[in-house]
Amino acid sequence: MRRKLAAGNWKMNGSTASLAQVAELMAANPAPSVDILICPPATLIGQMATACLGTSVAVGGQDCHAKTSGAHTGDISAAQLMDAGASHVIVGHSERRTDHAETDATVRAKAEAGIAAGLTVVICIGETLSERESGKTLDVVARQLAGSIPDSATGETAVIAYEPVWAIGTGKVPTLDQIAEVHAAIRAALVARFATDGARMRILYGGSVKPDNAAAIFGVPDVDGALVGGASLKSADFSPIIAALSNA
Ligand code: 13P
Repeated sequence: MRRKLAAGNWKMNGSTASLAQVAELMAANPAPSVDILICPPATLIGQMATACLGTSVAVGGQDCHAKTSGAHTGDISAAQLMDAGASHVIVGHSERRTDHAETDATVRAKAEAGIAAGLTVVICIGETLSERESGKTLDVVARQLAGSIPDSATGETAVIAYEPVWAIGTGKVPTLDQIAEVHAAIRAALVARFATDGARMRILYGGSVKPDNAAAIFGVPDVDGALVGGASLKSADFSPIIAALSNA
């Protein structure tokens, strides 16, 4: 059985005042039946990890460097994330693929570094609108899966997040059939490559998940949770999403 995961990606949002939202989230979910992960900006990881120590909320980074240390100004290694108290790291988010020209090979190297450091990696994939409209979605996703997941990935150390680029921050969501089609294709590819580990790897859906659409999305086969952006910033929005996942 795959334990469900509600993950929040705060992106470049939040300050120390936002830590109150996590306290509220923990109070609202004292004994959750699903895993909860928050990936705040790097500036907040240490404080949030300290605040969440011994609770049901895990803390993750939003990116890591592929190298363990060295002359890489402004970057953070996976070991440094661990040292700050993180247990997870997101790699290959479409915003990083776009803003920082990250390729599948870059993402794979970062994922490998994260796993080697002891982190669980959340590897993001997803098609653009033009790829969707030209019928290339399954090809794109297959290529990203093959290129972005390292051989070292296991059911425990890797999570896949399917995030259609056109659904991120737009309020647009694929139909449930479209989500089902892609998640089934991802599952088949994972099982073909990783056998039982592929069956155990969790697949999250991400892209405009909100309290009012979460339950329907979580009813789709092979949706093992969500990677949530905007609606993860406030406990009042994220808590109902966690509740919907718990009831799925
Ligand atoms: P939104 O939930 O704001 O669409 O963001 C999704 C996302 O990119 C999570 O990583």
